[in-house]
Amino acid sequence: MIIAIDGPAAAGKGTLAKRLAAELGLPYLDTGLLYRATAKRVLEANADPADEQAALLAARSLTQADFARPDLRDAETSKAASQVASLPAVRQALLEFQRNFGGRHGAVLDGRDIGTIIFPKADVKLFVTASVQARARRRWLEFQARGEEADFAAVIADVEARDEADRTRASAPLIQAPDALLIDTTTLDADEAFATALKLVRAKTTERNIGLD
Ligand code: DC
Repeated sequence: MIIAIDGPAAAGKGTLAKRLAAELGLPYLDTGLLYRATAKRVLEANADPADEQAALLAARSLTQADFARPDLRDAETSKAASQVASLPAVRQALLEFQRNFGGRHGAVLDGRDIGTIIFPKADVKLFVTASVQARARRRWLEFQARGEEADFAAVIADVEARDEADRTRASAPLIQAPDALLIDTTTLDADEAFATALKLVRAKTTERNIGLD
């Protein structure tokens, strides 16, 4: 059972994916962490996140400890993650890890290209989105919760820039798979988004005759 959850930054994918995985007893993978951890290694090596060879080396040397780092969500790493994520060699290097993760016992994975490239035959595909304003507000609240100073206008600009980069890159751009079910979380809280998603997953699995229990 593979559940692919794609969508732009701060649309609520992570929270939703984690809850779905817990509810359905499936492993969960936040694939953004792979790109963030790769970026962190590149930055720490004082290399350029646009340098494909340096980024590839970093992607190939990731270990479990890289994903547990507490500093993968700062602004510098987020920007560098977007850069390394646009490099085809990096995406290729991380593809197998993602397929192996899901291939063992099934999984819920969230990212940008799960339903289009990583698992094009996923049992259920969700595309989770929200307005730029709503997503920027959530990001801003996350910064506040971590005690980091952030200017709201700058956060909006950042979300828009990240969207543009994710949607227009040549390699695995962010697009809704034709068979993905859309969830717009602009006016939904986390519980409502979860209830909506669970209903869609149950309907889809019933339709496809897949047992969830
Ligand atoms: O979801 P996130 O913000 O943690 O992702 C970090 C960066 O990695 C973001 O720029 C999008 C990119 N990414 C990607 O290209 N493909 C994925 N499957 C997941 C994330």
